[in-house]
Amino acid sequence: MKSFSTLMGKQTLLPIIQANTVEQGLEIAKAMSAAGINLVEVVLRTDASIDIIRALKKQLPQLKVGAGTVLNADILKKALDAGSDFIITPAISEQLLTDLANCPVPVVPGISNTADILLVKEFGYTELKLFPASLSGGAPFLKAMAAVFQGITFCPTGGISESNQHDFLALDNVFAVGGTWIAKPEWVASGQWSEITSACRAAQVN
Ligand code: 3PG
Repeated sequence: MKSFSTLMGKQTLLPIIQANTVEQGLEIAKAMSAAGINLVEVVLRTDASIDIIRALKKQLPQLKVGAGTVLNADILKKALDAGSDFIITPAISEQLLTDLANCPVPVVPGISNTADILLVKEFGYTELKLFPASLSGGAPFLKAMAAVFQGITFCPTGGISESNQHDFLALDNVFAVGGTWIAKPEWVASGQWSEITSACRAAQVN
């Protein structure tokens, strides 16, 4: 199983790019890079997402670019063909875990409860995404998981912001936090790229 946290290195922020055009995606990624960010996740929720991954890989070759919202084998193939450096899923099923079995890049499966954690553990995963973190028990849930699922670490996303990120990062079983709060849709819509750089700087604790 390839390690995602090794790919992240010292970065504890997993910034999420959600954009409607390739141009927007590039500007967001450049603004994040200006804050020292080396790795980003592009969520596959707009028609432009796959083209954004391809463009980032070509134009910002130093940046590691992953695909989020991977829900099935079809999307997985598109994400890998576009050059994704890692794969993130919002949820899991036995089918999806089977489809991911031979994935050549690190995979972070999304879980939201104890049964999910046990299932992905049985498939060999130790680095998981808690999603949606704020609605799935938040930091108290992850704290409770530490004793039961030793050796499992988490990247919570969904409802993380500057006000609660440290509650999560303070936990030994949390290696990063992810989200869109560092690239708010209104900043993207109005081209306020420097706001994104500032928010990433403020959020990246290492
Ligand atoms: C995700 O895919 O992880 C979430 O959409 C991020 O959630 P947020 O928008 O609440 O940060």
